[in-house]
Amino acid sequence: MGSHSPLFYDSPLAVQSAAGVWLTSMDGVTYLDGYNNVPHVGHCHPYVVEAVHEQARQLNIHTRYLNDRVLDYAEQLLTTVDQPLARLALTNSGSEANELALRIARQHTGHTGVLVTDFSYHGNTTSLAELTTGLPVREPLGAHVRALTIPDMDHESEGEEAVLARSLALVDTAIASLQQAGHGVSALLFYPLFSTEGLPRLPKGYVTMVVDRVRSAGGLVIADEVQAGFGRVGTSMWGHQLFDMVPDFVTLGRPMGNGHPLGGVITTTNLLDEFGSNNLYFNTFAGNPVSAAAGLAVLKVMNAEQLLDNADTTGGLLRGKLTELAGRYDFISAAKGQGLFTGLEFVDPTTGAPAPAIAKQVVEGMLARKVLISRIGRNDNMLKIRPPIPFNRQHVEILTDRLADCLTHL
Ligand SMILES: Cc1ncc(COP(=O)(O)O)c(C=O)c1O
Repeated sequence: MGSHSPLFYDSPLAVQSAAGVWLTSMDGVTYLDGYNNVPHVGHCHPYVVEAVHEQARQLNIHTRYLNDRVLDYAEQLLTTVDQPLARLALTNSGSEANELALRIARQHTGHTGVLVTDFSYHGNTTSLAELTTGLPVREPLGAHVRALTIPDMDHESEGEEAVLARSLALVDTAIASLQQAGHGVSALLFYPLFSTEGLPRLPKGYVTMVVDRVRSAGGLVIADEVQAGFGRVGTSMWGHQLFDMVPDFVTLGRPMGNGHPLGGVITTTNLLDEFGSNNLYFNTFAGNPVSAAAGLAVLKVMNAEQLLDNADTTGGLLRGKLTELAGRYDFISAAKGQGLFTGLEFVDPTTGAPAPAIAKQVVEGMLARKVLISRIGRNDNMLKIRPPIPFNRQHVEILTDRLADCLTHL
């Protein structure tokens, strides 16, 4: 697989099995998973495994024959979004979902310009590489792309109103620049938690006001829920529901199939009908009955185990404990996040500058203490704690006890 395969940790971890929020390495050591959002309802959840197994025994085929399983899935998933969102196009990954949403937006608006945020990642296709700002890519930012800086009230000296005005002025400038260059605005592609940017605390109303500006310029709005979706934010099923707006597209991936490759685009009837009438969009593996069974099982487990509420209460508990820890050390500036997506930010206590080396030391120190977490933020100085959502009070205790021990040894 080549020497550039992106692996975690100084000494990569080889895993062989998992259950719930626990992973077991090849040498038989058990780790608490504070990181992975792909096994969303828990690693190898028995109900999901059984649903996949049952469907694989019965039928697995592409989507050019009618099959109830995929229609049941579409119907159930669509009950979780707001009107006028009413149609689902399935894909195999988050990248494919964003690619399709951008393509529909481009055709509908007749424009090519795209607004993204200035430290973000939305996938690995050629057109997404041209709008990647938060990971190394060889492709330069596309001439049709403008990147917005997302304000974080935890890092501002001015008040909320001034920050909001300044941030919205940047949006106006970006839109004007796309229009002057002849690209126009086809879409805003954003990720509701802005985690790659470092889970910023936004000024009130910011997202809604950006969306209004994009729509006034004739553009459509794509909420990338690959990270924030499926109850991760705790208070709602979708990250964009934190804001007073309904996007034109909701793009999905990662948690959707609990590890089974499954992605999708939720959009309006009009947009999908228009696209379908001009293009034959066929995606061989997307929406196959086994994938649909995995997706249905995830929704069923989320309901049966009340995992959305759990993300809210456990996330709140975790952030409370991290805030306590932050108060004890002058090199921790803030506990951040929403629901079960949490960050802890490290700075140099004398200069206040970001301290990525401390974050790295803690991630490695936690591995040594058998807890898996990672790092995020534009300076890589923030712990990324984003566990499977059955993570509970007892797991929070284990994680924060070991984190406290790790911090005393820094
Ligand atoms: C926010 C976001 N969008 C899109 C993607 C791409 O998804 P995939 O790797 O399934 O193509 C990712 C992957 O990490 C992501 O984090």
